Amino acid sequence: MQVVASIHEMQSLSMATRFKGSLIGLVPTMGALHAGHRELIRLAREKADFTVVSLFVNPKQFGPNEDFEKYPRDFEADRAVCEEEGVDLVFCPTAGELYPEHYSVYVEEEMVSKGLCGISRPHHFKGVTTVVAKLFNIVRPDVAVFGQKDAQQSAVLRKMVEDLHMPIEIVVGETVREDDGLALSSRNRYLTPEQRADARHIYEALLTGKELVDQGNHSVDRIIAEVTHTLARSRRIRVIYAEVVDRRYMQKMREVVPGESLIAVACWVDQTRLIDNLKI
Ligand code: PAJ
Repeated sequence: MQVVASIHEMQSLSMATRFKGSLIGLVPTMGALHAGHRELIRLAREKADFTVVSLFVNPKQFGPNEDFEKYPRDFEADRAVCEEEGVDLVFCPTAGELYPEHYSVYVEEEMVSKGLCGISRPHHFKGVTTVVAKLFNIVRPDVAVFGQKDAQQSAVLRKMVEDLHMPIEIVVGETVREDDGLALSSRNRYLTPEQRADARHIYEALLTGKELVDQGNHSVDRIIAEVTHTLARSRRIRVIYAEVVDRRYMQKMREVVPGESLIAVACWVDQTRLIDNLKI
């Protein structure tokens, strides 16, 4: 497995790989790799001949009072996961090279990114689209794999690729969960055992919403009431949003359209911000 930090070297290697006719698959990550990331790597390996994982904690997608500084970083552990999963190349650029002094170009999506997390994290998706567009230009993948766990992010990136005519197939891998349903996240590491125990109510809440839909109830008001009621089982949980949206553009829906809707929630479990969603 190759490990590359230099942008120029990455570009030369991807050029040579494409010249040989190999399809390149990219899994962009911020490291702290877990079983969810592993699943995306497996999907990339199925789709491509040469699999690249990028490890970069992107400062541009964190707000001023967010967890950029304390975000978990463990290069050796991440390298070992990539090696185990049969990754061909790990790309770990430096912030200094990606964003040199006088850096001034950004990519912004103006519809899908504006609701849900876009309200409480107003500059987050601009940071995500910018870094992913840069990674696409450097790695030049044929296929890029993202997770359903961050449904809004995946939808925003699909829209970026579509609207900017980037010749890249976007694949979205299903959310990998713990036994009690909690979606794996690098941020779960911040939770104390008590907080971790309460965090299970997030998936429970999504399931209560889905149950209503499965019983034929399509009223969004009714579903959201049930979801927030279930989240209230924990006094540590504060709801940031709980919404039913359409899966493609993440716009609020009045009525559930089975097969096209998504329940999305974000909440604080004490000081840790967690998100999750379920297709309905
Ligand atoms: P990160 O949080 O490291 O996530 C990398 C990818 O893993 C994302 O596509 C995310 O949706 C996916 N993922 C996270 N948890 C998952 C789970 N439990 N099951 C399946 N997939 C999961 O998302 C980012 O990094 C960054 O915003 C990035 C796209 C790399 C841009 O900086």
